[in-house]
Amino acid sequence: MLLTFIIEIFFLLGSIGFIWGLRLMSSPETARKGNIYAGVGMALAIIAALIMPLEGNVSNNYAWIFAALIVGTIIGYYSAIKVAMTSMPQMVSLFNGLGGACAVVLGLADVLHYYDGTKVVDTLGFLTVLLTLFIGGVAFTGSIFAYAKLEDLVDDKKVTLPKHSVVNMIMLAGLIGLGAYILMQGEAIGMEAAIIFLVISLIYGVSFVAPIGGADMPVVISLLNSFSGLSGAAAGILFDSQFMVVGGILVGASGTILTVMMCNAMNRSIWNVLIGGFGGTSAVGATATGGTVKEISLNDASIQLYYSQSVIIVPGYGLAVAQAQKICKEIDDQLSANGVDVKYAIHPVAGRMPGHMNVLLAEADVPYPKLLDLDEANSALSSADVAIIVGANDVVNPAAEDDPGSPIYGMPVLKVWNAKSVIVLKRSMRSGYAGIENPLFFHDRTKMLFGDAKEVLGKLSSEIKSL
Ligand code: TAP
Repeated sequence: MLLTFIIEIFFLLGSIGFIWGLRLMSSPETARKGNIYAGVGMALAIIAALIMPLEGNVSNNYAWIFAALIVGTIIGYYSAIKVAMTSMPQMVSLFNGLGGACAVVLGLADVLHYYDGTKVVDTLGFLTVLLTLFIGGVAFTGSIFAYAKLEDLVDDKKVTLPKHSVVNMIMLAGLIGLGAYILMQGEAIGMEAAIIFLVISLIYGVSFVAPIGGADMPVVISLLNSFSGLSGAAAGILFDSQFMVVGGILVGASGTILTVMMCNAMNRSIWNVLIGGFGGTSAVGATATGGTVKEISLNDASIQLYYSQSVIIVPGYGLAVAQAQKICKEIDDQLSANGVDVKYAIHPVAGRMPGHMNVLLAEADVPYPKLLDLDEANSALSSADVAIIVGANDVVNPAAEDDPGSPIYGMPVLKVWNAKSVIVLKRSMRSGYAGIENPLFFHDRTKMLFGDAKEVLGKLSSEIKSL
């Protein structure tokens, strides 16, 4: 009795830890604390799950339980320590996949509760099993495949069939039909049917992600993140665990909200992303702009920045790769000390993960009020003296506004070309993630500053010091 009470309290505190943690994650200043609270919530739930066997009605094979716990802890710890910020989407993808795989295993383990060896005895329960297998299966193989795509282990073009979205719809319709058939049958179909259903769901997971690529990958990853949460919630219903339901719904809901926000940021509907618009990493439709590129010297750039009234810094993936956030802040301090109004324009999909730029700049202690979101930045850019783009490309591509043939046409971008002067800092004329040329580099007001972001900003800072 006391044991049951303690277990319930731990699960309740664990759920509160999750909810409170998520609440704190809504602001960069409290996000780190939020992560700790959510982690403590998870630890409480693990302790509760460990004491559950002492009640006597669940498996008490502690050797297996501790072996899994130790292996999981070591893998989780080392992946978190070692992962580069730029590889976060891959790690998130892998972990989503593992969440889905866990739900699949739990779903399979529970089939026999709803099927007595000859017929389905609880239709609603069996429907939940099928949902767990479907959502978990898609989250599992879809996420592993998304990981392989992000790591460039598979070639998008080779895995996409002609009319792939039609193939996907047929598969989905087939799965719904099979599920309905299984539920209506009273005969010996339980385990075998569940396995056939699972195998098709696993194949569907790969097929669902195959045609999506390029700038759409973040959307699909957050969608798979919500799937892994929902599959956990469905497994929680099967095992009568309110804690799993709460945790799963939180992940499912936050993943869904993020998916919607990213679709809005790219001005796309979720159907458009899934059925294929500018998915695919091909550069088809990109304009071959050509034209003359003007360069700027370090000395001229430093003078221009130092004697401006307002400067807007546009950070992108290259800033993250070069780890140039601290030196960027140093330049901000130097300019601000001279009375320049320095702000940062943050595009919602700049970098390689949601909030990537916010995290980097917070790491360099850039005050949060200096960060402008897309709309604020676009109105500030029209009166800015200099827009300096540090390792960003797709998020400042004017083709998104004025080239209907461009794969990123319609995606809201930072209109840096409205600033009086534009400096683009990158290593070469190479394209960004979407693999398309950027007409901004050939614009009248644009000057290129070639080199690695950290190295060039370091030199720029020395030049500014000498002014
Ligand atoms: P990108 O368009 O990928 O461009 C980054 C640029 O940084 C490249 O053109 C590269 O040019 C430059 N660069 C790389 N290393 C550098 C270094 N060491 N120093 C200086 N420059 C360097 O980045 P973005 O503008 O941030 O746009 C993000 C893109 O990624 C979007 O297409 C978005 O959809 C996609 N995406 C976003 C996410 C999320 S959720 N944020 C996730 C996955 C994909 P050089 O090689 O010439 O230097």
